[in-house]
Amino acid sequence: MKKNIEKKQIPVFKPLIEKEEIAAAVESLELGWLGMGSYVKKFEESIEKVCEFQPDDDRHAVAVSTGHAAIHLSLMMIGVGPGDEVITPSFNNAADFQAIRACGAEPVFVDIVESTLCIDVSKIEELITEKTKCIIAMDYDMFMCDHKSLAEISRRTGIPILHDAAHSFGSKYDGRPTGNQHQYTIFSFDPVKAVTCIDGGSIIVQGADQVGKLHAKRLIGMTQPAAQMYTNSRAWTYDIEELGFRYHMANLHAAVGIVQIQKLDKIRTTRQKACMKYYEGLSGIDWLVAPMGNISEINPFLYYIRILNDRRDELRKHMKEQGVDTGIHWQSGHTFSYLRDCRRGSLDVTEKIAGQILSLPLHSKMKSKTIHRIIDSIKSFNG
Ligand SMILES: Cc1ncc(COP(=O)(O)O)c(C=O)c1O
Repeated sequence: MKKNIEKKQIPVFKPLIEKEEIAAAVESLELGWLGMGSYVKKFEESIEKVCEFQPDDDRHAVAVSTGHAAIHLSLMMIGVGPGDEVITPSFNNAADFQAIRACGAEPVFVDIVESTLCIDVSKIEELITEKTKCIIAMDYDMFMCDHKSLAEISRRTGIPILHDAAHSFGSKYDGRPTGNQHQYTIFSFDPVKAVTCIDGGSIIVQGADQVGKLHAKRLIGMTQPAAQMYTNSRAWTYDIEELGFRYHMANLHAAVGIVQIQKLDKIRTTRQKACMKYYEGLSGIDWLVAPMGNISEINPFLYYIRILNDRRDELRKHMKEQGVDTGIHWQSGHTFSYLRDCRRGSLDVTEKIAGQILSLPLHSKMKSKTIHRIIDSIKSFNG
């Protein structure tokens, strides 16, 4: 009986783990080299292929244990340290705020644009001071930031952009894959992302010297060559020149990630179609906003709606009773007790949408009838 109820519940996230992922995981375990090794190299090469890097770009993927680790190391590479400030949307993942604080720096909260929930570029420059070391720009769900304007602000002010593309691996901006827009990009492949490797992340950097530094930083500072570890062996002597963390990726995770990337086209198409179905099914309802942009080049992470009648939590309860789980991405940074004293600009849109946003289930394999069941559960709410 219990099993039946569980079967009917539609989760917000559902990882696509099929026989190929399981076979790859078993194969990597049978290799007997559990740590960072040949699978990690292949995973990095697969990421670079998705990013369509050309030799002249000199851009490289460095795989790490999580997206959070990728942000932390990127900020360290930028030189963010005690007394510095990093501008970030308050409407962002806690991983970004904690990575800033882990560097001893302070987040400065900027607002978002209502139509995309991405950073409002027109409100960045008023927040810049001599302490500003970095601007974090995060693509949200199926929307991309205004990367052209961000690159222009960076050029004008000399402040680097850290592109948090945790949601947009496999998407394109103006025809170019994410990973090509700024000096630093990070991806997340955590359990709920469209492309997962169980847990993992990647930094995209330019230049062999940067790659070398990151290789040491992800290996508690040890300078032993990644090239050797990629042959499933290790050096026994090395130097430690800088601060580092145990942030490297394991073969098992990389093995799953490689197979997921092989399915990227299928994953993207399924998720795009699901978003379109949500949009078509929900756009006539006057008490909610069902967003849509041009998603032909987007690999959507989530589909969110905005509930305009102050009854979001009632709707969540109603949907739960109908067997549909929903999520909230996210609580804003400035509302957390740890971060409430951080400097900020006006956060009008952030405040406005905080009680409205609702994430609907989005899976890489999703039947039409599942989406219709979710749409029906919303329509049956007396809004
Ligand atoms: C925008 C954003 N940045 C960073 C992260 C952190 O990634 P990870 O969970 O891999 O540490 C997430 C995770 O959901 C995220 O959504």
